[in-house]
Amino acid sequence: MTFDYTGKTVFVSGGTSGINLGIATGFAEAGAQVFVISRSADKVAAAVGRLKAAGAEADGCSADVREMDAVDAAFAQCAERFGEIDVLVSGAAGNFPARANDISSNGFRSVLEIDLLGTHHVMTAGYPRLKKPGASVINISAPQAVVAMTGQSHVCAAKAGVDMVTKTLALEWGPEGIRVNSVIPGPIEDTEGMRRLAPTPDDMDRVVASVPLKRIGQKADMANICLFLGSDMASYVNGTVIPVDGGWYLNTPGTALDPVLDMIAETKSK
Ligand code: NAP
Ligand code: COA
Repeated sequence: MTFDYTGKTVFVSGGTSGINLGIATGFAEAGAQVFVISRSADKVAAAVGRLKAAGAEADGCSADVREMDAVDAAFAQCAERFGEIDVLVSGAAGNFPARANDISSNGFRSVLEIDLLGTHHVMTAGYPRLKKPGASVINISAPQAVVAMTGQSHVCAAKAGVDMVTKTLALEWGPEGIRVNSVIPGPIEDTEGMRRLAPTPDDMDRVVASVPLKRIGQKADMANICLFLGSDMASYVNGTVIPVDGGWYLNTPGTALDPVLDMIAETKSK
């Protein structure tokens, strides 16, 4: 199936690498004009270049989602360049594997502020620029939102919060014709997230073995669900949390990180 996003504007926070850049690229290839933000100006420039090469009108700017003023300024720049937003994807996130006893107050706060407070900033700064009715908002969640996972207390807390923001805003914004949904990626190949959580080939093999479909996910899998959610074909889909993970959530991966955490502990003790 192909989607036509010609003339539509898509804003992607954290859209300069990994899954989010894959999603941005999917929209670019479907004809959308795409605006991306993240902290690194170099990553923004490189991503904008790749999106243009995919055939899109593209732009972006450096902004830290923890800073409301910076996020608001990014939306103002996007609105000036491309007009009102049809699809808003909030994907900026941070993660590192560490047991709760090894996470400092600042470490826990950093992840909460990027993932959860950052989502609030992107939602509320984006809201005045969303097409009403008709906009589709997609928050990028994680399996940790619904499955407790060792070494991930900060991410579990943050992403569970993201999904509750999704559901609450689906209630608040639904009457204005704005749909808000979350997507839960499973393990996705060639991403920073997987490099951090499954650093060795053995770790990756264990992960793939625990996915019922017996394959790692691709960035295109995530782009496809977002292209669907952003389209009229999903016009009655609101307030949902959709796993796109080959059925991974059915095989509770709660202690999957234990070998990685043991390795980290061993490295530290040397
Ligand atoms: P990634 O490439 O590191 O993507 C994270 C993006 O967020 C980067 O563009 C990063 O760019 C940006 N970012 C980080 N902190 C930021 C901040 N404070 N303000 C603005 N932008 C910020 O990682 P990924 O693995 O593809 O993950 C992408 C999303 O998918 C995340 O929401 C993650 O939780 C979710 N997810 C990933 C997997 C997986 O298999 N990888 C599985 C489940 C869920 P800068 O460094 O330039 O800021
Ligand atoms: N184990 C334990 N604590 C860690 C850690 C680790 N592996 N990595 C960072 N921290 C702690 C730091 O020690 C610091 O706490 P402290 O001040 O008490 O020492 C705190 O986290 C913040 O670290 P800092 O590097 O200053 O934060 P930052 O805001 O520059 O970066 C992170 C945020 C830590 C989430 C960083 O990993 C990041 O930028 N991630 C983005 C990319 C990413 O995670 N991609 C995968 C997405 S799923």
